[in-house]
Amino acid sequence: MHHYFDATERGRPVPVLGNLVEALADRGLGEFLTSFNPLHPRPLDWRPYRDRVPDRLRILVELFAFGAEIDVRQLPQELGWISTELPRAGVAIFDGRKLQLKVGLRLLPVAGRWLFCTPPGTGLSHYLGDDSVALMLRIQPRAEATVLDLCSGSGLQALHCAGFARRITAVERNRDAVELAQVNVMLNRLEGKIDVLQGDMFEPVEGRQFDLVVANPPLLPVPDSLPDLSIGHGGYDGMRACCRILEGLPAALSPSGRGHLIASCLADADNHYLRDLLVTNAKAHHLDIVVTVVSMKEVAAKDGYLEAMASAVAREIGQDPNLVLAAYREDMRQRKATHLSFLFLMARHGSGRVELLDMRTADDQGVWHIV
Ligand SMILES: C[S@@+](CC[C@H](N)C(=O)[O-])C[C@H]1O[C@@H](n2cnc3c(N)ncnc32)[C@H](O)[C@@H]1O
Repeated sequence: MHHYFDATERGRPVPVLGNLVEALADRGLGEFLTSFNPLHPRPLDWRPYRDRVPDRLRILVELFAFGAEIDVRQLPQELGWISTELPRAGVAIFDGRKLQLKVGLRLLPVAGRWLFCTPPGTGLSHYLGDDSVALMLRIQPRAEATVLDLCSGSGLQALHCAGFARRITAVERNRDAVELAQVNVMLNRLEGKIDVLQGDMFEPVEGRQFDLVVANPPLLPVPDSLPDLSIGHGGYDGMRACCRILEGLPAALSPSGRGHLIASCLADADNHYLRDLLVTNAKAHHLDIVVTVVSMKEVAAKDGYLEAMASAVAREIGQDPNLVLAAYREDMRQRKATHLSFLFLMARHGSGRVELLDMRTADDQGVWHIV
């Protein structure tokens, strides 16, 4: 991706990316997109409503919500500049006539911010999922706080925190995701508030302290016998990246700072394993941790949950879904793991206390929320 967001080109003014949101809002794109469930951003679910889009909006819905290739001659005249500006920002491809967002990318409004991302069903590369939105809604950035967003992806949590906090630093390992997050920062005109750094976890901010550390780390349990995943690998229990973050929190949190993490843990039905793991970490790193288990799925049951997880992983690593499923079954058998818990963690400096808030109910259909 390249960044040329100068306000002038060969002496002539060029509309900057920061004007896009206003231009789209003026044409009503937000009105269409905010009609759908914000907890569940799935372009596939929007398809039946494609024909209801008024003509004046159709070309924009096709381009930004459905990722379709459009003929730029159909763009409203005042938006003609996007055919050069979006490719410059590295989010689209233009051949002189046809314009299309890069594979999987969509442009979505989420809670007042707009972001380029790959929502569920469109790809994994610049991930935005139900967990991203769930964490965003749970974090409580204080006015004037300094925030660290670890594993920031396309930047949703950082963008959200910018409405409250004084300064936000986002850290992301993947270079493309870093560049996309920087585009999203410009899109929302937050250049003065959010810095996006490339690196591994706390490494780019070593020696600095923050009032709030938020993280949606890789949290998918993946058996050790399978190859690495670029986005979601959370180790055999799903908690590997989460534990790395807990280890780094004591140095990165200000004296009254808080860490807010989302996680999932593959283990037993009673969360004994989860509790023991967190007690060990809380004691080792002098933290107090409140863990809220919102829901739990019995993955050993034959209800398709494990199969769905295995086939998503198989797609990403390019392996036979049956072999991946067999690897999960063998790993779970050896570790006597039967359930996947979905949880949020709040950690602060302390003396090793762990409080487990068990909110799950047998008939709840939700994953990250009670529904
Ligand atoms: C589940 S996605 C979350 C993205 C975003 N925060 C959200 O909620 O939509 C996890 C992100 O962590 C990044 N990541 C994985 N390992 C990392 C590491 N060691 N340091 C920094 N980022 C990492 C991945 O590239 C990916 O973008």
